[in-house]
Amino acid sequence: MTFRDGENRVAQERALVFGTTAEAYDAARPTYPQALVDTVLAYAGGASAGGAVTGSLRAVEFGAGTGKATAVFGGRGLPVLAVEPDPRMAEVLRRKVAALPHVEIEVSCFEQWQPGGRRFDLAYAAQAWHWLDPETRRDRVFDMLAPGGALALFWNLLGIVDPVVHRELAAVDTAYGAGILRVTGLASDFDGEIESTEENGWAGWEFGADERFTDQRSVRLRNGVARRGADSWLAAVATYSGVQIMEPERRAEFLAELRSCLDAHGGFLDIAWFTDLFVARRVPAGAGA
Ligand SMILES: C[S@@+](CC[C@H](N)C(=O)[O-])C[C@H]1O[C@@H](n2cnc3c(N)ncnc32)[C@H](O)[C@@H]1O
Repeated sequence: MTFRDGENRVAQERALVFGTTAEAYDAARPTYPQALVDTVLAYAGGASAGGAVTGSLRAVEFGAGTGKATAVFGGRGLPVLAVEPDPRMAEVLRRKVAALPHVEIEVSCFEQWQPGGRRFDLAYAAQAWHWLDPETRRDRVFDMLAPGGALALFWNLLGIVDPVVHRELAAVDTAYGAGILRVTGLASDFDGEIESTEENGWAGWEFGADERFTDQRSVRLRNGVARRGADSWLAAVATYSGVQIMEPERRAEFLAELRSCLDAHGGFLDIAWFTDLFVARRVPAGAGA
């Protein structure tokens, strides 16, 4: 995916579809847990658990969207430069962090953004790394990190606890080609640790052989189970790009079929919330690569 030369317009269109419903996205998608912030800040060398940032860490975030991660990291006092290409998403983000003067926003896609002379102690992307150009993203991140600087990439997973409900919802997903099963799978499938394979596209696979990044770790955080009503679940489903790009009529049919399944099972879902995190460190100065 590139935003420089107009290639692969479908991918571009899909990557920037979130802004068409920025407010709904912000209302329906989950936030990120404080345990994630603790883990990332401890790895980056700048905070005590649950506490404010210590030291002089400086972070850059890509694909910041409406600021769901920006707010939790910035809320700890971390200076964040949040980069987001879609002005509609950036507008919600701007409002959200208005009381955090140490958070700056630049409207740009990752591929065109220029760090200038800036180097960062932490670069992170929440639910966004997969939208960045796979040909250039590692090189660009390497260049913008200070030696020893940390990279953190994370994604929320929402696991449907009841296998029967999951099977029925999955059948509808497959029939409509919505493609959200990767992030809204069967909860028990997320019981184990993160699998790193080429097929599942886990960041650990991508970075594994890259010696410029050391101390690589993959961590699955388990954030508990919560009950969600059908309205709340369908609002979240409607924010995924595979659903957003459907023709309106087809999308309405898809959501109506999901609702029928949910109604037949009491009109609610128990959802187990996980956050998968990949961290790596740019090799320290003098360490080669
Ligand atoms: C799934 S949303 C995640 C938003 C936010 N980080 C969150 O966790 O809710 C993906 C975001 O990546 C942005 N995005 C897509 N392509 C991008 C690119 N090439 N460079 C930077 N951001 C991009 C989209 O505009 C969108 O805001």
